[in-house]
Amino acid sequence: MPVPGPGYSITVRVEAPPSAGAAGDLTSAVGRVGGVITAFDVVESHTDRVVVDITCNAMSANHARDISDTLGALPGVEVRKVSDRTFLMHLGGKIEVTAKVALRNRDDLSRAYTPGVARVCTAIAENPDDARRLTIKRNTVAVVTDGSAVLGLGNIGPAAALPVMEGKAALFKKFGSVDAWPVCLDTQDTEEIIRTVELIAPVYGGINLEDIAAPRCFEIEARLREKLDIPVFHDDQHGTAICVVAALRNALRVVGKDLSDCKVVVCGVGAAGSAIIRLLLQRHTGDKLGPVDILAVDVDGIVHGARGDTDANLRWVATNTNRDGVSGRLHDALVGADVFIGVSAPNLFGAEQVATMAPDPVVFALANPDPEIDPLEAQRHAAVVATGRSDYPNQINNVLAFPGVFRGLLDAQAHTITDEMLLAAADAIADVVDGERLNASFIVPSVFDAAVAPAVADAVRKAATATA
Ligand SMILES: NC(=O)c1ccc[n+]([C@@H]2O[C@H](COP(=O)([O-])OP(=O)(O)OC[C@H]3O[C@@H](n4cnc5c(N)ncnc54)[C@H](O)[C@@H]3O)[C@@H](O)[C@H]2O)c1
Repeated sequence: MPVPGPGYSITVRVEAPPSAGAAGDLTSAVGRVGGVITAFDVVESHTDRVVVDITCNAMSANHARDISDTLGALPGVEVRKVSDRTFLMHLGGKIEVTAKVALRNRDDLSRAYTPGVARVCTAIAENPDDARRLTIKRNTVAVVTDGSAVLGLGNIGPAAALPVMEGKAALFKKFGSVDAWPVCLDTQDTEEIIRTVELIAPVYGGINLEDIAAPRCFEIEARLREKLDIPVFHDDQHGTAICVVAALRNALRVVGKDLSDCKVVVCGVGAAGSAIIRLLLQRHTGDKLGPVDILAVDVDGIVHGARGDTDANLRWVATNTNRDGVSGRLHDALVGADVFIGVSAPNLFGAEQVATMAPDPVVFALANPDPEIDPLEAQRHAAVVATGRSDYPNQINNVLAFPGVFRGLLDAQAHTITDEMLLAAADAIADVVDGERLNASFIVPSVFDAAVAPAVADAVRKAATATA
């Protein structure tokens, strides 16, 4: 059930009578249709009328229209203007370039630009590694997309993807002090994307691939990692995997289980699901804990070797999971499972299936915006529930990972990114939640916890330095 939120926030400017009861009539009208008022400002006052800005959260664009229609229908009230606060925030874009050096006079110009700059160019030509010392490469990341898998909107193309990539760049700056720049490519051809990123790479200290559809994203990332001498990180895969592994570590602490004793169901074997499976398996190989028992499930049911999948990613998953070779649907997989991790599709099961899981099950239902199971339903039988949503406890949000990951990579001047660095980032996020604060409703820190990004950066920097 959606609730009014700031994503659908409007400001309605109305003209109303100056009577004592007018303010009450306006606010109760908004409340009657389910809007939540966050501000009420009188912007003009006259003897015969007042002009008021009513700012409120709605549930959807249609609900926002209902609110302004209801206000306009009140006696003596006229709606002058309705502003969508989300669109207002995007006017002219959300990021900009600012100069770090003063350009006050001819002297400054001669050093920042010609003729002085020529000596810096020559130094880099003679020693290309100096680019990381003397240019923006030191702190700049490209956020590269082809617009093919944007949020839950699908293949909307590069221009429509730009607001998301600008937002990502803003988050990089806010949480990691990283200068990120959107690079939205007008192609969805794998070879063209790889070649284009290769051509622009000299400017950047890292590449963050974003919202590129599976299975194309796997090949693009793998080939770019081979070709480039800077780290390449597909956030939809590895940012998600880091956060899920961190959250799972703390969830299992809450229920007192060890991952090596757990049966784990991962539903969704696309970009996010396969990276989660790889990192969970890697954790166990690295810690020599023995194979973790994972059942992967996709739209065709439980993944197993005899299914005859031709896709390379699914073949890898079939080889490395499902050690008993079982087949069936999601509901079969859930029976006796200790952990459910969903990165797939909305509304796939209910409380009755959670009841078939092992005692004290952990349910991460991360499909966005509508999870695999209603979190309130899941809570009826699950010991710990997490979602990707900000309106429930335990939000698994990639913002916990990517700013700190790139901060650490850039500081270490890393040329690659390894699974050890991803696991170090996961442990750093999990460790921010100390034993005093850990409980079923608090397995991951808030995205606004200022301790997270420095802890992740430090862990990644140490892991990068150890592998250099
Ligand atoms: N932090 C987060 O909360 C977070 C992070 C990443 C992805 N997600 C969410 O996870 C979902 C998947 O993202 P992705 O990028 O991996 O997508 P994707 O398209 O790459 O993969 C989707 C997978 O779901 C499977 N699937 C689809 N319908 C299914 C069904 N009815 N039953 C079982 N499996 C089904 C598909 O077979 C595929 O394996 C999206 O809803 C996304 O928003 C959330």
